[in-house]
Amino acid sequence: MRTAVVLLVLLGCCQTGAQLQNEEREINQSTTQPDIWAELTELRDMVVEQRVELAVTKNELGARLQTSESQVAELQKENEAQTLELKLMEARLQTSESQVAELQRENEALRDMVMEQRVELAVTKSELGSTKTELAAAKTELGSVEARLQTSEGQVAELQRENEAQAVDLSAMENRLNSTELQLQEHKTVMEELKSTVEELKRHIAERPKVAFSAALTNAGNVGPVNTDTTLVYTKVFTNIGNHYNPATGIFTAPVRGVYYFRFNSYGSGSSIFIGSALYKNGQRIVSGLDHQTSIDKEDSSSSAAVLQLEERDQVYMLLLSGFIVYDDFHNRSTFSGFLLFPM
Ligand SMILES: *[C@@H]1O[C@H](CO)[C@@H](O)[C@H](O)[C@H]1NC(C)=O
Ligand SMILES: *[C@@H]1O[C@H](CO)[C@@H](O)[C@H](O)[C@H]1NC(C)=O
Ligand SMILES: *[C@@H]1O[C@H](CO)[C@@H](O)[C@H](O)[C@H]1NC(C)=O
Repeated sequence: MRTAVVLLVLLGCCQTGAQLQNEEREINQSTTQPDIWAELTELRDMVVEQRVELAVTKNELGARLQTSESQVAELQKENEAQTLELKLMEARLQTSESQVAELQRENEALRDMVMEQRVELAVTKSELGSTKTELAAAKTELGSVEARLQTSEGQVAELQRENEAQAVDLSAMENRLNSTELQLQEHKTVMEELKSTVEELKRHIAERPKVAFSAALTNAGNVGPVNTDTTLVYTKVFTNIGNHYNPATGIFTAPVRGVYYFRFNSYGSGSSIFIGSALYKNGQRIVSGLDHQTSIDKEDSSSSAAVLQLEERDQVYMLLLSGFIVYDDFHNRSTFSGFLLFPM
């Protein structure tokens, strides 16, 4: 309000100054004019006029002053209201400032956090970089593993094919093995039979009687001639298995039923003498050996053989026939032999 008053006073002064200058200029002019009185009158009129104007102006100014004062009062009220408002605003400002300070602190804290996070981000980035490298390496490894896997799978497939082929082979071999085993079983059976047969044969052979004899007649030269058929006693025994030939009687006695082989040789020496002997079984003549020496042919032999089926206790022997001779000496020229072919 004070400011408004000063402004009004200044406004009044300026107006008065301008009027004085105008008056002075008019006076300078009047001095040049001869009618000073006229001018003075004019001046006085002007002054009066100006006084009127001044009074009017004074009234106006009073009215304006009142207006101004009421305006000042108005403005004072407004000013007070504004002061109040200003205080409120100051309080709000303080609040705002403290909030700003708070926010700044928070901002700094946030900046620190951002810095930290940047650092972390950088670390994370570098970690990410190394992880990427590792990932690339892992990918490469995976690639090689995949390649190996493919190779392995190929090999597995190949092995499976081989396995299948082998399974077929194996099945065929199993068939062959089964048939071979079957044959083997059959052969085993046959072998068992053969074994028992062999055992039986062995037993048979072991149990089979062993019968063989061979003997020469005498060292005494001629035997005979005799008047009746006489048993020839072969005294020089070469072999007598089982002792079934009796060198004291000249008789062979069959120990078992069976088939036997007998052979004899009768020698003669000199002229006009007849060799004569015969093989007998139980008093029955079987084969004879007869020969007649001449003066040209002074030595002769007659021999024969026979296969006989005998019963146990059958007797076989040689007879010197009546009127004949048989000769023997250390050369063992006249012999009688026999053996069992097989029992029955
Ligand atoms: C008035 O007249 C005098 C002398 O003639 C001169 O020196 C002066 O400057 C004049 N004043 C004005 C305001 O013209
Ligand atoms: C071979 O013999 C065995 C046992 O006897 C049997 O289980 C199998 O099935 C046979 N195999 C063939 C191919 O005959
Ligand atoms: C005749 O037989 C006897 C055995 O009785 C023998 O020792 C001898 O050497 C035989 N003699 C000849 C010439 O064969």
